[in-house]
Amino acid sequence: MRHRPVKNKEQIIEEGRQWLVSEPESLKGHWASLFDEPKPLYLEIGSGKGRFISEEALKHPENNYLACEGGGKIYPRILQKIAELQLTNLRVIPAYHLKEKPCFEENELDGIYLNFSDPWPKARNEKRRLTHRGFLEQYRLFVKPGGFLCFKTDNDELFEWSLEEFSACGLDVQRVSRDLHSSEWRDELAMTEYEAKFSERGKTINYAFIVF
Ligand SMILES: C[S@@+](CC[C@H](N)C(=O)[O-])C[C@H]1O[C@@H](n2cnc3c(N)ncnc32)[C@H](O)[C@@H]1O
Repeated sequence: MRHRPVKNKEQIIEEGRQWLVSEPESLKGHWASLFDEPKPLYLEIGSGKGRFISEEALKHPENNYLACEGGGKIYPRILQKIAELQLTNLRVIPAYHLKEKPCFEENELDGIYLNFSDPWPKARNEKRRLTHRGFLEQYRLFVKPGGFLCFKTDNDELFEWSLEEFSACGLDVQRVSRDLHSSEWRDELAMTEYEAKFSERGKTINYAFIVF
């Protein structure tokens, strides 16, 4: 039996170059220009292999999406999904989102997704957690009033700590579930790779939805 040759990372990047945003800072204030049409714009920070964001982009052609993924070995998997699903409304930022390098103008986004963000368990690293108040203050600027921050995690400690951060920033947390898959919101959002893995092992998934 003949197998199709497995593409290497360089080949995937080359073939998907049109969907990569290599200088995100230069698009500050102009993100809509990346897409065929201006539409509501949603960002996921830490997209992994892109299962969640590619499914959301497929389900919602009325929106545009950005997948931010800093892992150099991981983001090419998102490019593969864009090609397979023929998505015209998803682009990839192949870099770590950093507080010090804001890429968005005020009110430029309609929503942000944080899915299974790295927990950075040591207290000395808490400023690196993507739900730290330093990041939350930025998200509040980037996202339009009425837009959202949506957070899913398997990590109970990170979730409880994040709820305190949301509260310390005075954010309007409209939905909280410590068992998303048994909740009324279970079918609203696509699953992520980590979500599928942890829930198969019986771990409950935490979920919070904030409106700015
Ligand atoms: C635990 S994985 C979760 C992946 C995916 N969201 C999921 O739920 O399956 C976290 C991912 O976030 C990426 N990441 C961590 N910090 C990031 C940042 N500041 N900006 C962009 N990506 C980040 C990591 O490289 C990793 O792929």
